Amino acid sequence: MLFLRYNHLVFPFLLINFVFISHQLIEAQTLIDPAFDQSLSPFGSQAGRGSFLGRCIENDDGATFTVRNNCSFTVWAAAIPSGGQRLHSGEAWNLKLPFGAVGRVWGRTNCSFDSSERGNCETGDCGGVLQCQSSGAPPNTLVDFALNQYNNQDFFRVSLVEGFNIPIEFKPTSNECSQSVRCAADINKQCPTKLKAAGGCNNPCTVFGTSEYCCGNSSRSCEATAFSKFFKERCPDALSYPADDTATKFTCLGKTNYDVVFCPFRP
Ligand SMILES: *[C@@H]1O[C@H](CO)[C@@H](O)[C@H](O)[C@H]1NC(C)=O
Ligand SMILES: *[C@@H]1O[C@H](CO)[C@@H](O)[C@H](O)[C@H]1NC(C)=O
Ligand SMILES: *[C@@H]1O[C@H](CO)[C@@H](O)[C@H](O)[C@H]1NC(C)=O
Repeated sequence: MLFLRYNHLVFPFLLINFVFISHQLIEAQTLIDPAFDQSLSPFGSQAGRGSFLGRCIENDDGATFTVRNNCSFTVWAAAIPSGGQRLHSGEAWNLKLPFGAVGRVWGRTNCSFDSSERGNCETGDCGGVLQCQSSGAPPNTLVDFALNQYNNQDFFRVSLVEGFNIPIEFKPTSNECSQSVRCAADINKQCPTKLKAAGGCNNPCTVFGTSEYCCGNSSRSCEATAFSKFFKERCPDALSYPADDTATKFTCLGKTNYDVVFCPFRP
């Protein structure tokens, strides 16, 4: 929400971003909960607003994410905000994330793009473009993050609510923060038959579309299922269904830099 407020105050012409990224902000709300409630609400206290402006004036210049492809195959990295890049095995992509950025990073597999950067991917495709501006099609393992939020902390987690395609790790590389999180189990090989998808393992909401699995699209009103437990047993720290309150929420001080590693262990 701070990101929004920033747009509102400083770049009114970017208000269109509100509509564009609103579903990610809703996700971010669950990410930074319970801290979210008061001070981060758009209707929050003047005190919150004042301290935010204070931080603006410090002229923060954001964080760097280094996305590394440690898989034996090519991965088309995707990030919102930022876009996308093809990474052959061993290659890396440096992203500059702006102050207060709220978004996600994931990997796409088996893509083909033409010279105008249009095409498609077997997993994680974002509307057929190399430079992603919207979330990827399931299945894809993702990291969602909200930088410089409550108490100037970064919040992040690994999420399996879009299913799983490749193992992923998110790890801080500065500020002496050691809160790395990963989901590196071989979920594709063990995927329940009903969830199997080309190149990955779907989340049951994608397959069945019922409120039992999708939580009626609200993050507060459903329970673990046999399918969500399948993911939880393999990646205990990750978000296994929309209302999974056992998902560990990780934090580092704002302005920490991070590595995003695809295949922290080669599958
Ligand atoms: C890409 O597709 C080929 C052929 O369908 C398949 O054998 C291979 O495992 C896929 N690669 C990845 C990384 O999913
Ligand atoms: C959740 O939202 C999607 C897209 O808005 C919709 O297609 C789906 O039916 C909804 N599912 C439930 C259970 O409300
Ligand atoms: C890449 O994978 C190898 C195993 O093949 C592992 O030893 C190494 O630590 C991984 N690198 C990263 C950056 O995770």
